[in-house]
Amino acid sequence: MHRVLLALALVNMLPLLWAQNSAVDRWNVQDYPDPHSYDTFRLCQRGNQSNICDPNGILSRQEADEVDSLIRSVYRETRCGCRSCIDESRGYIIRVALMPRMQRILSQNNDTYALLHDARQYAYTLSRRWMMSGSCNESLLILFSKFDGILYTLTLPHARLRLSDQHVNRIMLNVRPLFDDDDTVGEGLKEMILRYRMALEGKTEEAVRPQPWTEKSTSGASGFSSPSFIPLILFLMAILFIQ
Ligand SMILES: *[C@@H]1O[C@H](CO)[C@@H](O)[C@H](O)[C@H]1NC(C)=O
Ligand SMILES: *[C@@H]1O[C@H](CO)[C@@H](O)[C@H](O)[C@H]1NC(C)=O
Ligand SMILES: *[C@@H]1O[C@H](CO)[C@@H](O)[C@H](O)[C@H]1NC(C)=O
Repeated sequence: MHRVLLALALVNMLPLLWAQNSAVDRWNVQDYPDPHSYDTFRLCQRGNQSNICDPNGILSRQEADEVDSLIRSVYRETRCGCRSCIDESRGYIIRVALMPRMQRILSQNNDTYALLHDARQYAYTLSRRWMMSGSCNESLLILFSKFDGILYTLTLPHARLRLSDQHVNRIMLNVRPLFDDDDTVGEGLKEMILRYRMALEGKTEEAVRPQPWTEKSTSGASGFSSPSFIPLILFLMAILFIQ
């Protein structure tokens, strides 16, 4: 009798837990799950340890798989410069965090500058929580917060030797239009990672070369809530906040 009741209680609770989980729309940086941890990869909507976290399903499972396997190939096929990368024949570490909204850390102010400052802090905090410093800071974190209109790339110091903030900004300007449309976010991430890879391999010219979609009209996009505005500001940020 007790067992039956308990089972019923569990069955009743499950949809509730499920609903609560997917109901998180504005993520606190301390709660956002780590896709690389065995304890939390499921919360990232992944079937195993992964490099991409997408708790609210912004991408389809297949798109997330494709982004993940691209990141794995960067790890396997590039070479970073520090001792352990050479000893272990491996390369740079990339992680991707997708969310509908970030819960603000530094301020509630909604102007572009404050929002970007927050995004930077968010990405930095996440990189610490996810222990991304690797052997020599050979890592980068891509953060996309859809309704905040934020696309941000945090490069840790060793990765920044090859992939400078200026490269990041030019690459983001190139791929940015793909993030305006829900259907092409996955494509945008893949293009971005391919280009980062080229830069990390020293093929900078190729990495920053414009593509046809950059000529798509963006006249409808204005104001800070549109991703189109963000990379330009990031460029200014890079100058102001460069470490
Ligand atoms: C999960 O990944 C590990 C290695 O990272 C692998 O050994 C294991 O078989 C995978 N599990 C599933 C269910 O794919
Ligand atoms: C910023 O925007 C959010 C929601 O869009 C709102 O809740 C908040 O009050 C705004 N902050 C300020 C300082 O206006
Ligand atoms: C990574 O860089 C930070 C400074 O940005 C430094 O404090 C830390 O020691 C570095 N970690 C490794 C493993 O190199």
